[in-house]
Amino acid sequence: MSLASEQLEKLLREKTCTIGVIGLGYVGLPLAVEYAKKGIKTIGIDVVEEKVAMLNRGENYIADINSEWVKEIVTSKTFSATTDFSVCSECDIIFICVPTPFTVNKDPDISHIVDSTRGVTNSLRAGQLIILKSTTFPGTTEKYVKPILDEAGLKCGSEYFLAFSPERIDPGNKVWHTANTPIVVGGITENCTKLAVLANEIIISKVVPVNSPGVAEMEKLLENIFRSVNIALVNELAQLCDRIGVNIWEVVEAASTKPFGFMPFYPGPGIGGHCILIDPYYLSWMAREYDFVTNFITLAAEVNESMPFYVRSMIIKEIAKQPVSLASANILILGMAFKKDVDDLRHSPALRIAELLLEEGITNITYHDPYIPTTKIGETIYTSTKSITPELLSSANVVVITTDHSVFDYEMIVKHSKVVLDTRNACKHIKDATNVVLLGDGK
Ligand SMILES: NC(=O)c1ccc[n+]([C@@H]2O[C@H](COP(=O)([O-])OP(=O)(O)OC[C@H]3O[C@@H](n4cnc5c(N)ncnc54)[C@H](O)[C@@H]3O)[C@@H](O)[C@H]2O)c1
Repeated sequence: MSLASEQLEKLLREKTCTIGVIGLGYVGLPLAVEYAKKGIKTIGIDVVEEKVAMLNRGENYIADINSEWVKEIVTSKTFSATTDFSVCSECDIIFICVPTPFTVNKDPDISHIVDSTRGVTNSLRAGQLIILKSTTFPGTTEKYVKPILDEAGLKCGSEYFLAFSPERIDPGNKVWHTANTPIVVGGITENCTKLAVLANEIIISKVVPVNSPGVAEMEKLLENIFRSVNIALVNELAQLCDRIGVNIWEVVEAASTKPFGFMPFYPGPGIGGHCILIDPYYLSWMAREYDFVTNFITLAAEVNESMPFYVRSMIIKEIAKQPVSLASANILILGMAFKKDVDDLRHSPALRIAELLLEEGITNITYHDPYIPTTKIGETIYTSTKSITPELLSSANVVVITTDHSVFDYEMIVKHSKVVLDTRNACKHIKDATNVVLLGDGK
């Protein structure tokens, strides 16, 4: 063991280390808050000045984080934020939690990882541990991040340390959060893994070491591809059920009574967010380098990405049953966020459906989402209606439930709407509702 490694291990065991978190979004901010809550000096780094200024005023912008915690850690000076990467030199552990989007052609864009790694490299010193948390393709840590850090002239594994540890946070989940969700860690060397495990164990109850960053990178993709493929399977079966008049939701519930070998997944208007829609493409892009075609990923993407189109055709079918043209039909979209009870709009299927309606000449679109006050659909900025009123519901030709937020009053929605197109089975408890058209029911 090297001196740098021994010194870092001592800091970690005594919990006297300083933590740096680059990228203060859905992943980075909860992580930073968790360390700071333990009384560990934590510095957040982000390129967006407004976020940094808000945090330094003690203001929180992530729904899952208790705003009081942010106030407390800022007031006690345990946490501060900055746009200045030179503070990295003060940090013993640096987590990189920046976005990993795709390009318009759905190729990986790891430019945020590369940029932030460069920011770290400029002040890299002996005894620092860098942990990449952004989801990415196998080989990123070893082939892209390490060579940049190596430019500082230090040796990985003895002078500085590097590991990959994928994030599993599930925004909106009331049970599983940063501290109680087990995570996987794979370091470049055994020593890197050991130190990264110790660093994570300060705040996380179960840390699972694996033999390389590649295993950790790949297992994260497996988790997300597993979801994408299984959601695609039920989405495809939902379309079949629509044809044959069998309720897919009842089918899934019935299958779920099997105590082994089955796990329920539910259909919907499509998938969104920053994970299961994007991450599978990272692997299929990488596979091409090895003359390998990831058929499951492609097929799942094809089905899931066709769902907003499918919902659009269901909406048009409902309009066609009424004495109104497409151009004058009023559509009310309930829920713009990509999933229930979150404020995340990224790649939201509701947004995609709205765009597809506009393309079809259906321009009278209104939406309500308490989590998304405004959004751009096509070239226009739309504002959420203040509330859902009986008048609003009855004035719509079709009310589409795209996101099943818990705060919605579904009884009221069904009572006052002409037609409710329910893509989430949100109205399942309402008995004998003749005006509800359920995706995957065929009635
Ligand atoms: N959101 C989730 O539920 C979730 C779950 C698991 C994994 N992930 C993965 O975690 C990573 C981060 O996702 P997120 O949802 O937190 O993204 P986010 O957009 O909410 O936050 C990322 C933050 O990084 C900042 N940033 C961008 N480039 C930067 C740079 N060069 N230097 C410093 N800061 C920079 C942005 O301003 C933003 O505040 C992604 O790889 C994502 O796939 C996300």
